[in-house]
Amino acid sequence: MRNWDASQIPDQKGKVAIITGGNAGLGYEIGLQLAKKNTTIIIACRTESKGAEAIKRIEQALDRKIEAAVIQLDLTNFDVIRAFAATFKARFSRLDLLINNAGVVNLKERTTTAAGLEMHMATNHLGHFALAGLLYPIIKNTPHARVVTMSSGGHKWGEINFDDFNWEQRPYHRTKSYGDSKLANLLFVMSLQERFEQDGASAISVAAHPGLSATERQQSIGIGGWLSKVMAQPVWMGALPALKAATAEEVKALEYYGPKYGIRGYPRLAKMDEKVFDKKVAQRLWEVSEQITGVAF
Ligand SMILES: NC(=O)c1ccc[n+]([C@@H]2O[C@H](COP(=O)([O-])OP(=O)(O)OC[C@H]3O[C@@H](n4cnc5c(N)ncnc54)[C@H](OP(=O)(O)O)[C@@H]3O)[C@@H](O)[C@H]2O)c1
Repeated sequence: MRNWDASQIPDQKGKVAIITGGNAGLGYEIGLQLAKKNTTIIIACRTESKGAEAIKRIEQALDRKIEAAVIQLDLTNFDVIRAFAATFKARFSRLDLLINNAGVVNLKERTTTAAGLEMHMATNHLGHFALAGLLYPIIKNTPHARVVTMSSGGHKWGEINFDDFNWEQRPYHRTKSYGDSKLANLLFVMSLQERFEQDGASAISVAAHPGLSATERQQSIGIGGWLSKVMAQPVWMGALPALKAATAEEVKALEYYGPKYGIRGYPRLAKMDEKVFDKKVAQRLWEVSEQITGVAF
């Protein structure tokens, strides 16, 4: 069977996509390929000038103007997330694709947000939870919308410890705390789909992981960075699982796409760890996330 690549993305004219972290790394590549197929892309990033620069680079790469906007988003700040959602809703009346891509990875020291939340969980899960919750009405009202959440093979090392959610009591472990957030991403994918079904929405919740992809940041992270320099696949290839989850017609709810050979290769269905199917943990995580973010779906 022919490998799936970005040339197979169907024309997306009229569709609107938000890409968190669309200014750099995998998010930039996802934006580039979606724009190439005529999607209106909204780059959701911390620094507006970096988003504007990304749009300029995409236009240069495609040698034409694209439909695009930059709206500032800091996933660690719930007020900024609310402002993002309000701005988006004032300017757009549909949301076909929400790509929850932005993330921080394997932070060396335990780091917290201004609100005292552990940084991986806050950025990678809680910020995206709040964002999706605030955009939920518009997603629900857009026919056949998709929410694509970027996880990682590292979700297998995660564990949701509700007694020490912010790593205050245990000695900090960077791979595990990152893994917690990536497990939370997949538990969220599951619960979000349930919510769509309960509400009779045609939207679907799907997931992807990029294997080991040679983004600039990835290559600067400790041993993982060294490994990445030697073994990682190019960024364009790492973006394919998320692009397939976002656009291929055959994709179904709750599917999880990753590279064929785990860390590299063209996209195919990937396996989630059994922890992802623990409904009690998923339910509790949803409740805790609602409490912390103050966002109810
Ligand atoms: N690369 C890999 O091998 C790999 C492997 C497994 C999973 N992943 C996952 O793939 C996703 C993208 O990774 P990447 O390698 O492309 O990373 P990257 O190059 O470091 O890009 C991360 C993006 O997230 C943004 N970001 C970070 N904190 C943010 C915040 N508080 N609010 C809004 N945006 C924020 C960054 O913005 P700034 O430019 O402002 O910092 C940047 O745009 C992540 O979810 C990561 O966990 C990557």
